Amino acid sequence: MSRISYQDLGLVNTKAMFKNAIEHQFAVPAYNFNNLEQLQAIVTACAESDSPFILQVSSGARKYAHQTLLRFLAEGAGAMLRELNPHLRFALHLDHGDTFELCKTCIDSGFSSVMIDGSHHSFEDNIALTRKVVDYAHQYDVSVEGELGVLAGIEDEVSSEHSTYTHPEEVIEFVKKTNVDSLAISIGTSHGANKFKPEQCTRDASGVLVPPPLRFDILEEIEKKIPGFPIVLHGASSVLPKYVKMINEFGGKIEDAVGIPEEQLRKAARSAVCKINIDSDGRLVFTAMIRKVFKDKPGEFDPRKYLAPARDELKNMILEKNKNVLGSAGKGKLIFAS
Ligand code: G3H
Ligand code: 13P
Ligand code: ZN
Repeated sequence: MSRISYQDLGLVNTKAMFKNAIEHQFAVPAYNFNNLEQLQAIVTACAESDSPFILQVSSGARKYAHQTLLRFLAEGAGAMLRELNPHLRFALHLDHGDTFELCKTCIDSGFSSVMIDGSHHSFEDNIALTRKVVDYAHQYDVSVEGELGVLAGIEDEVSSEHSTYTHPEEVIEFVKKTNVDSLAISIGTSHGANKFKPEQCTRDASGVLVPPPLRFDILEEIEKKIPGFPIVLHGASSVLPKYVKMINEFGGKIEDAVGIPEEQLRKAARSAVCKINIDSDGRLVFTAMIRKVFKDKPGEFDPRKYLAPARDELKNMILEKNKNVLGSAGKGKLIFAS
């Protein structure tokens, strides 16, 4: 198959987005998608709020939706976006790429950005793998995100029982030797809806779990070592109690779910963190809304009747995040201003 360039699809890499995010103290949202309705919600919300954004696809998403269909869905999203908000652009990003071959396949099929997650390898092997991806990607002006430090929980197929915070003393060497464009770090976030064990949390007056604060001291150390370098925060869903409550009210069972408080994400977005990854919050919204329809209307069997409310509520959640948490709303015009 011949190579498809993201430029021909009307996509952008993350370079200008991140430069603007650092300069104007916001973070670009990176939303994961697996299906049509998630994609509709992301595109319409970002178009309406005029927010630059990153559409991200995990290897699991590629398997679920079929890699070719998924790419065409993303291409279609570009065409739809140009109708809704002609000056806005997005990056198409591989989330948690684990091999050179997977990154190359995505680069060759129109992705404008890839993550190579070598965080589970030794420092030296992580550098070597990341450098190999960067050398290939940069020939085509594709951006590369690397990772140093390990998040607690499940990172796709990579399971890590305990997190290892990023060591600030390693970042200069990593960035220099790999030539990556951005760096994902570990400062206390983790993937999924149960980011902290109850015993790691305290409880407020009404018994609600309060998670330990993110390690902003480590972030500050990293910023001092590589000033102005784009930092990425994975595992940054807030696990909004409203949707967990709905899920449990309408027949679900999600216990002790805790996310990252929005105030801490606002603080991160004003720092060198210029990409914030959100997947679980979207999953919770979808599940809550579908469960509500099934509870309210047990006879409903037209998928559009339960997927549309889920899609519409996801759109509202993204509008809210862009405006009030990441600060990316209204920054769309900056993409071409760099
Ligand atoms: O970081 C992982 C993302 O939430 C993607 O999850 O591998 O289940 O698609 P997934
Ligand atoms: P959440 O599970 O917190 O949404 O994190 C998603 C993520 O980091 C995708 O790479
Ligand atoms: Zn992640």
